[in-house]
Amino acid sequence: MIISDDNNKNNKHKGASHDAPKCKSQDLETKELEFDKTYEKNIRPKTFIEYIGQSTLKETLKITIEASKKRNIPLDHLLFYGPPGLGKTTLAGVIANEIGVNIKITSAPALERPRDIIGILMSLKGGEILFIDEIHRLNKVAEEILYPAMEDFFIDLTTGKSQSVKTMRVPVPKFTLIGATTKAGALSGPLRDRFGIIHRLEFYTIDELAQVIKRSAQILDIKIDDEGAKEIASRSRATPRIANRLIKRTADYALVKYDGKITRQIAKEALDSLCIDNLGLDNTDRALLELIIKNYGGGPVGIETLSVALGEDTRTIEDVYEPYLLQKGLLARTNRGRCATKSAYKHLGMSHLNPDGQIGIFD
Ligand code: ADE
Repeated sequence: MIISDDNNKNNKHKGASHDAPKCKSQDLETKELEFDKTYEKNIRPKTFIEYIGQSTLKETLKITIEASKKRNIPLDHLLFYGPPGLGKTTLAGVIANEIGVNIKITSAPALERPRDIIGILMSLKGGEILFIDEIHRLNKVAEEILYPAMEDFFIDLTTGKSQSVKTMRVPVPKFTLIGATTKAGALSGPLRDRFGIIHRLEFYTIDELAQVIKRSAQILDIKIDDEGAKEIASRSRATPRIANRLIKRTADYALVKYDGKITRQIAKEALDSLCIDNLGLDNTDRALLELIIKNYGGGPVGIETLSVALGEDTRTIEDVYEPYLLQKGLLARTNRGRCATKSAYKHLGMSHLNPDGQIGIFD
């Protein structure tokens, strides 16, 4: 069971133990991990004002939070869904901070045994937020323990064996569950019905991502002009997590090859060197489209076939690669399989392989 107590002030400056015997490489590793964590923590927005994008959802949340404060009751349970990297966990942290409560962060695969979910529910304090990532992967037993906890704030504990089995109803503190998933459709109906707000996180616009990049650059003391920010934004797959990763790589490049300041030209060079093209596609995205075009005449081709040919599991293809390719209109999903669109042929410079424009129905 993973529990990260994100707003727990006592955890803030935990570092390597001073008593532990020191091994140089381990020490370096610890420092690097700590640097990454601090880095992540510093650029993560903590308030609605700092959090860029998702404006409709933010407005809904502000009203719900205000109402729950006025009624003096915990916030309704919330379910966020959408592709990875759009800020579901970050938003949960913002909500906890805005309400002024602690958040415990875990993920469904870490709640394998009944005692994992029972333990975490019983450890909560009144009003706290429990964040469960990948909630569609929760097993049946854990789900059934969660139902009465979400609805009426109690759990049923069983003791004893066979004939002498007894069930005890045990109260749990009033809490708010925030579930996150890339696959809302994979959640069971009864679990989905217990969330008061269900909201999809949208891909970011280039302007929103440029704002995210400029904010992160300022915190990290990276110099970047507006055009440089836009260039990175347009290659970040509409995803802030990727934008924040690319700004680090681009800053390294600017520092080593130039004077450190990121301009459009330097961002272009840096991202080209990482094989990230002008639409933000990487080698795997292009390999996927090329495979459909070259080996399967543009499709349709089944996801299993793509998975074997690319050596990526189907879940990664569905959750990580496809959403952005679909959004960009480069890929189409049909009930017979995946197809490359006319735009995909054009983007890859392969229109000559589709002289009749046969895939035009998808554009
Ligand atoms: N960093 C990651 N996501 C962000 C967002 N939505 N707003 C500001 N900074 C971010």
